[in-house]
Amino acid sequence: MPTLTLALSKGRIFDETLPLLAAAGIVPSEDPEISRKLILPTSRPDVALLIVRASDVPTYVEHGAADLGVAGKDVLLEHGGDGLYQPLDLGIGRCRMAVATKRGFDWAGTVQRGARIRVATKYVRTAREHFAAKGMHVDLIKLYGSMELAPLTGLADVIVDLVSTGNTLKANDLVEVETIMPISARLVVNPAALKLKRAGVQPLLERIAAAVAARAPAEAGA
Ligand code: PRP
Repeated sequence: MPTLTLALSKGRIFDETLPLLAAAGIVPSEDPEISRKLILPTSRPDVALLIVRASDVPTYVEHGAADLGVAGKDVLLEHGGDGLYQPLDLGIGRCRMAVATKRGFDWAGTVQRGARIRVATKYVRTAREHFAAKGMHVDLIKLYGSMELAPLTGLADVIVDLVSTGNTLKANDLVEVETIMPISARLVVNPAALKLKRAGVQPLLERIAAAVAARAPAEAGA
């Protein structure tokens, strides 16, 4: 195995991380959308990328099976972040965590009455903390995807999900009733790797941080 490994997921996070890695001289030798390889060599012989499921990134880094990783704040909140050093908000994968209901659902009245609600979500921990902070009683229903279906089928009253353009909610006749927090992807580092592999990790962190800072302000704030 190369000296340094970085875990990240395919898709949007991978695509948006590429320019930041390029700034550190790291260019993957293959496209993960085409290759079936899960360990991708890069233009730097000492660095490889590990292609993992987004929700598995913190686990790989926590256990030191990857030295570094890129994970959304949504995923990090569910994981808890224990055993992870989180030095850098990469400002990519921007969206928001939100509460949504079926159009016409009396959300304000439900909150006011203090009624018990059923919440379907992939983000159980975040949802639990959000509603606990509001003093609301909720029954949480864990789902793994297509959460928008839950209010439409009567499985739940509301969902907690990521919203980016809002198109998915709109297409399913749902409305956002509360924004919980803004979400973006973070660089995470295994604390032991930071100490033991400092000579490799530190310059990498610095070059990625410089690339993040150098992006156009409009893009960084978008
Ligand atoms: C996310 C989220 C919504 C959608 C929101 O799903 O769960 O379904 O994006 O985006 P929009 O507001 O731009 O329509 P994603 O595509 O990441 O797939 P997932 O369901 O596997 O998480």
